[in-house]
Amino acid sequence: MKAIITGMNGTVAPYVYMELENRNIEIIIWDRSRVDTDSQKSVSDFIRKVQPDLFFHIATGPVKWLDFIAKATKELGVKLLFTSSVSVFSEKGSGPYDPESVPDAEEDYGRYKIACEETARTWNPDSIILRLGWQIGSEKGSNHMVDFLAKAQKENGFIEASSRWFPSCSFLEDTAGVIAQAALTYMPGTYLVNSNRKYSFFEIAEFLKKKHHAHWNIRETDSFERDDRMVDPRVEMPELF
Ligand SMILES: NC(=O)c1ccc[n+]([C@@H]2O[C@H](COP(=O)([O-])OP(=O)(O)OC[C@H]3O[C@@H](n4cnc5c(N)ncnc54)[C@H](OP(=O)(O)O)[C@@H]3O)[C@@H](O)[C@H]2O)c1
Repeated sequence: MKAIITGMNGTVAPYVYMELENRNIEIIIWDRSRVDTDSQKSVSDFIRKVQPDLFFHIATGPVKWLDFIAKATKELGVKLLFTSSVSVFSEKGSGPYDPESVPDAEEDYGRYKIACEETARTWNPDSIILRLGWQIGSEKGSNHMVDFLAKAQKENGFIEASSRWFPSCSFLEDTAGVIAQAALTYMPGTYLVNSNRKYSFFEIAEFLKKKHHAHWNIRETDSFERDDRMVDPRVEMPELF
């Protein structure tokens, strides 16, 4: 079995790569310095040449790129998996969210992810769309919660963490497992991927501090209150801890 993956210079894709490798799937990386993303011809030619079974669009990047990918994968019969985000739900609202919850983001990033989802669904109705929560990893300078906490500590000398905010989040290894499993076995549709059943951001930050033996000065606050947890019984996600 063969797969194309985008976004390999990012945070999530390298974990998906490792997961696919463990499942003996051959992986071709989309190198944007060698393959253009801005024309239907270039995108279709590349996918036709590689002849993958699966396409993992993990990169961010223009909606138009996804438009080209969705059309090409539909035409060539390639299964498309797209990683969306809990950010499709407005920061002004509150969850918990389930598969029936309607995206309502007003923020730029959330509106961008909604546009991506709609593009994937319109041009490749067989797409699998996974809305991810905040990722938890360990590498420095990467797009995940531990790096955010370390930066906040470095910049302010302390970290403010609310005990009334319940984020959606998951460890990168667990997310990658579900991404691979979804591409191989899920029916087309939109799924919510979250490991946090019950913990506040304050509790999660305290746990990660211990796990990483970090010298973080975490200050509990209750000024920020929101429930961003996503719940989807179709997704087998390990609990956070
Ligand atoms: N990290 C999280 O906490 C989180 C949470 C929820 C959802 N997600 C979703 O998961 C996916 C991966 O996130 P990530 O954290 O890995 O993102 P990231 O670390 O910011 O990496 C995104 C990658 O996308 C590619 N890219 C960036 N700008 C681009 C552009 N203008 N045009 C084309 N490609 C561009 C780059 O990869 P190349 O240079 O290899 O092409 C980049 O490394 C995204 O869809 C994101 O919305 C992530």
